Amino acid sequence: MEFTVKTGNPEKQRSACVVVGVYEGRKLSAAAARLDQVSGGQLVKLLGRGDLEGKPGQSLMLYDLPDTACERVLLVGCGKKDELDDRRYRQILANAASALDALHASSAVSYLAELEVKGRDLAWKARQLAEVTEHTLYRFDQLKSEKDKRRRKLARIILGLTERSEQTAAERGLKEGQAIAVGQHLVRDLGNLPGNICTPTYLAEQAKLLADSDTRFSLQVLEREDMEKLGMGALLSVAKGSVQPPKLIVLEYRNGGDAKPIALIGKGITFDTGGISIKPSADMDEMKFDMCGAASVLGTLKAVAQLELPLNVVGIIAAAENMPSGQASKPGDIVTSLSGQTVEILNTDAEGRLVLCDALTYAERFQPAAVVDIATLTGACVIALGRHPHGLFSNDDKLAQELLTASQAAADRAWQMPLWEDYQSQLDSNFADMANIGGRDAGAITAACFLSRFAKKYKWAHLDIAGTAWKTGKEKGATGRPVPLLTQFLLSRAGQG
Ligand code: BES
Ligand code: MN
Ligand code: ZN
Repeated sequence: MEFTVKTGNPEKQRSACVVVGVYEGRKLSAAAARLDQVSGGQLVKLLGRGDLEGKPGQSLMLYDLPDTACERVLLVGCGKKDELDDRRYRQILANAASALDALHASSAVSYLAELEVKGRDLAWKARQLAEVTEHTLYRFDQLKSEKDKRRRKLARIILGLTERSEQTAAERGLKEGQAIAVGQHLVRDLGNLPGNICTPTYLAEQAKLLADSDTRFSLQVLEREDMEKLGMGALLSVAKGSVQPPKLIVLEYRNGGDAKPIALIGKGITFDTGGISIKPSADMDEMKFDMCGAASVLGTLKAVAQLELPLNVVGIIAAAENMPSGQASKPGDIVTSLSGQTVEILNTDAEGRLVLCDALTYAERFQPAAVVDIATLTGACVIALGRHPHGLFSNDDKLAQELLTASQAAADRAWQMPLWEDYQSQLDSNFADMANIGGRDAGAITAACFLSRFAKKYKWAHLDIAGTAWKTGKEKGATGRPVPLLTQFLLSRAGQG
């Protein structure tokens, strides 16, 4: 989809549809008031019939409003004016996108960026317009023989402005939103693909496609033999039970001179059965999403390249499939990680930390300015925080604050959890340097504690996205989070916002 900016009054827009907001109690936004005025009060008159109160979630299509150049006017309910926050604004945009999608129209002019959102500027609202519109129109039908029958004609959204001075800010916001949307689209596609298609090998192929799309990328894929030579005993132990070979995918983006890179590390378990500590059958299909951390690394790098950010970023993906078999790791097995630390595998279902710990050690060779790992790591994180924020853990308060600020700016929220020394003893093992599980208490924290033992040489943060990477139930599917957060973090690092 194309997003552009145009300055001019709403009644002058020669478009299939002009989108304007109406607050609760039928209070008109500025653009709606303007349409009402030029149409001789027609808008208020139609609203008087009671079809649209202005509540959030409502919308109403009007045809042939007198003295306007457009074919239709879409009124979108905005709720109470003083309650318009991030969440409500995104709902309004999604609602408008769905209504437009149902039309025959190929383009529309949206005046929703004029709405006042608490604490947000025009660039932010423009970014949300692109991001939320693309997100709402996303469909995953590549594996259905009958493709989505929508007319699929909506090709262009024009952000309508009344002040020319705001053009630059709006354009910047749209550009950022589109880059984030492109990144999220990739994450959702990869996440939604089933485990029999999206294997570690498939992830490596996708990384290759991305690497070939921009000369600033370079790619290295470590195979099983390479990892054996290096001594990645923890990562390899997870892949042992599977016929799918593991991959350590290293995708570098270089556009920052000789600055130290930021490393993004993704958990890429393309299917997590639990291994010998096998999971119950109910909802096990959702473990195809266990590579969403890996996908978000690729999606973020795609957004970064599209924005041509002046940074060095290295993406490291630890990809494997966790299966039970005669060759699989067993409870009690002890492996030696790349760091030299030994791990007693008390539960083969705590595999994410095993693949990540070797990737964390591998990251040392890049002398990173900061490392962020992204992982669907623990069910316990979902119990603790639900499905709204990502769990955030860090060994550096400044980095944690930076990520929290980015998450707030991107409307892709994270919540910091403690990483206190007090929890570390839960990982004690009688037979190895540590166990890979820490008992029932504080499961998300002890998982992060495990990782922290491999992240001592740099500033590190961990995002547990177990509750946020996908939706369950009727709307089952990958969300594309935390691409907005990570892209914002990198935009800020690049000095752009
Ligand atoms: N991929 C899962 C975590 C997960 C579970 C994410 C459910 C989202 C929904 C992870 O590999 C796992 O199985 N973790 C175990 C750890 C336990 C054995 C200590 C868990 O959370 O149950
Ligand atoms: Mn598991
Ligand atoms: Zn897992």
